[in-house]
Amino acid sequence: MSENNRKAALVEALNRALACEYAATVQYLQQSFLVSGKERQTFTPFFSASSAEAHTHASNLGNKIVSLGGMPTVEPAPIRQAATIDEMLRHDLAMEREALDAYVKAWEAAESNQPMRFWLEDIIRLEQLHIEELEKLTAGWAS
Ligand SMILES: [Fe+2]
Repeated sequence: MSENNRKAALVEALNRALACEYAATVQYLQQSFLVSGKERQTFTPFFSASSAEAHTHASNLGNKIVSLGGMPTVEPAPIRQAATIDEMLRHDLAMEREALDAYVKAWEAAESNQPMRFWLEDIIRLEQLHIEELEKLTAGWAS
Protein backbone atom coordinates (compact mmCIF):
# COMPACT_ATOMS: atom_id res chain seq x y z
CA MET A 1 0.00 0.00 0.00
CA SER A 2 1.35 3.45 -0.89
CA GLU A 3 1.94 6.08 1.80
CA ASN A 4 -1.07 8.06 0.52
CA ASN A 5 -3.35 5.02 0.62
CA ARG A 6 -2.18 4.20 4.11
CA LYS A 7 -2.95 7.74 5.26
CA ALA A 8 -6.38 7.64 3.58
CA ALA A 9 -7.22 4.35 5.33
CA LEU A 10 -6.16 5.81 8.68
CA VAL A 11 -8.22 8.99 8.13
CA GLU A 12 -11.24 6.85 7.19
CA ALA A 13 -10.87 4.80 10.36
CA LEU A 14 -10.46 7.93 12.51
CA ASN A 15 -13.56 9.42 10.86
CA ARG A 16 -15.58 6.35 11.89
CA ALA A 17 -14.46 6.96 15.48
CA LEU A 18 -15.31 10.67 15.10
CA ALA A 19 -18.83 9.80 13.91
CA CYS A 20 -19.28 7.65 17.05
CA GLU A 21 -18.03 10.44 19.33
CA TYR A 22 -20.40 12.97 17.72
CA ALA A 23 -23.29 10.56 18.27
CA ALA A 24 -22.21 9.80 21.84
CA THR A 25 -21.99 13.54 22.63
CA VAL A 26 -25.63 14.08 21.57
CA GLN A 27 -26.96 10.77 22.93
CA TYR A 28 -25.55 11.36 26.43
CA LEU A 29 -26.61 15.02 26.40
CA GLN A 30 -30.22 14.14 25.55
CA GLN A 31 -30.15 11.50 28.31
CA SER A 32 -28.93 14.13 30.80
CA PHE A 33 -31.97 16.27 29.87
CA LEU A 34 -34.50 13.44 30.09
CA VAL A 35 -33.57 11.53 33.22
CA SER A 36 -36.14 12.19 35.94
CA GLY A 37 -37.18 11.11 39.42
CA LYS A 38 -34.76 10.25 42.23
CA GLU A 39 -32.33 8.79 39.69
CA ARG A 40 -31.79 12.27 38.28
CA GLN A 41 -29.33 13.14 41.05
CA THR A 42 -27.17 10.15 40.17
CA PHE A 43 -27.47 9.98 36.43
CA THR A 44 -27.57 13.59 35.24
CA PRO A 45 -23.92 14.17 36.32
CA PHE A 46 -22.94 10.82 34.78
CA PHE A 47 -24.62 11.53 31.44
CA SER A 48 -23.35 15.15 31.37
CA ALA A 49 -19.77 14.10 32.10
CA SER A 50 -19.97 11.32 29.51
CA SER A 51 -21.23 13.80 26.91
CA ALA A 52 -18.41 16.24 27.73
CA GLU A 53 -15.86 13.41 27.48
CA ALA A 54 -17.22 12.33 24.08
CA HIS A 55 -17.06 15.98 22.94
CA THR A 56 -13.40 16.20 24.00
CA HIS A 57 -12.64 12.95 22.16
CA ALA A 58 -14.41 14.29 19.05
CA SER A 59 -12.35 17.52 19.21
CA ASN A 60 -9.11 15.58 19.53
CA LEU A 61 -10.05 13.30 16.61
CA GLY A 62 -11.06 16.19 14.35
CA ASN A 63 -7.80 18.01 15.01
CA LYS A 64 -5.80 14.83 14.44
CA ILE A 65 -7.58 14.13 11.13
CA VAL A 66 -6.71 17.64 9.88
CA SER A 67 -3.08 17.16 11.00
CA LEU A 68 -3.00 14.09 8.75
CA GLY A 69 -4.27 16.17 5.82
CA GLY A 70 -7.78 14.65 6.01
CA MET A 71 -11.28 16.13 6.22
CA PRO A 72 -13.22 15.48 9.43
CA THR A 73 -16.72 14.09 8.81
CA VAL A 74 -19.81 16.06 9.86
CA GLU A 75 -22.05 12.97 9.94
CA PRO A 76 -22.73 11.39 13.34
CA ALA A 77 -23.27 7.65 13.72
CA PRO A 78 -26.91 6.67 14.52
CA ILE A 79 -28.11 8.19 17.81
CA ARG A 80 -30.26 5.87 19.94
CA GLN A 81 -33.09 7.29 22.04
CA ALA A 82 -34.57 5.57 25.09
CA ALA A 83 -37.44 5.95 27.54
CA THR A 84 -35.87 4.34 30.63
CA ILE A 85 -32.48 4.59 32.32
CA ASP A 86 -31.81 0.88 31.79
CA GLU A 87 -32.48 1.25 28.09
CA MET A 88 -30.33 4.40 27.94
CA LEU A 89 -27.42 2.59 29.54
CA ARG A 90 -27.75 -0.39 27.20
CA HIS A 91 -27.72 1.98 24.22
CA ASP A 92 -24.67 3.74 25.67
CA LEU A 93 -22.84 0.44 26.08
CA ALA A 94 -23.59 -0.46 22.45
CA MET A 95 -22.35 2.98 21.36
CA GLU A 96 -19.14 2.74 23.39
CA ARG A 97 -18.44 -0.72 22.00
CA GLU A 98 -18.81 0.63 18.46
CA ALA A 99 -16.47 3.51 19.28
CA LEU A 100 -13.90 1.14 20.80
CA ASP A 101 -14.07 -1.04 17.69
CA ALA A 102 -13.50 2.06 15.50
CA TYR A 103 -10.48 3.09 17.60
CA VAL A 104 -9.00 -0.41 17.42
CA LYS A 105 -9.45 -0.44 13.63
CA ALA A 106 -7.73 2.97 13.49
CA TRP A 107 -4.88 1.51 15.59
CA GLU A 108 -4.56 -1.32 13.05
CA ALA A 109 -4.61 1.19 10.17
CA ALA A 110 -1.85 3.23 11.88
CA GLU A 111 0.56 0.32 11.17
CA SER A 112 4.13 1.61 11.62
CA ASN A 113 3.09 5.11 12.72
CA GLN A 114 4.18 4.64 16.34
CA PRO A 115 3.20 8.09 17.70
CA MET A 116 -0.30 7.60 16.28
CA ARG A 117 -0.50 4.16 17.87
CA PHE A 118 0.56 5.52 21.29
CA TRP A 119 -2.01 8.31 21.00
CA LEU A 120 -4.75 5.81 20.13
CA GLU A 121 -3.69 3.42 22.90
CA ASP A 122 -4.29 6.16 25.48
CA ILE A 123 -7.82 6.67 24.17
CA ILE A 124 -8.49 2.92 23.84
CA ARG A 125 -7.51 2.45 27.50
CA LEU A 126 -10.04 5.13 28.57
CA GLU A 127 -12.78 3.78 26.28
CA GLN A 128 -12.28 0.30 27.72
CA LEU A 129 -12.70 1.64 31.28
CA HIS A 130 -15.90 3.41 30.24
CA ILE A 131 -17.23 0.17 28.72
CA GLU A 132 -16.43 -1.77 31.91
CA GLU A 133 -18.30 0.84 33.95
CA LEU A 134 -21.35 0.59 31.65
CA GLU A 135 -21.17 -3.22 31.78
CA LYS A 136 -21.39 -3.00 35.59
CA LEU A 137 -24.21 -0.44 35.42
CA THR A 138 -26.25 -2.67 33.09
CA ALA A 139 -25.48 -5.96 34.85
CA GLY A 140 -27.32 -5.50 38.17
CA TRP A 141 -26.22 -7.38 41.30
CA ALA A 142 -24.34 -10.64 40.72
CA SER A 143 -26.14 -12.69 43.38
FE1 LIG B 1 -14.77 8.49 23.64
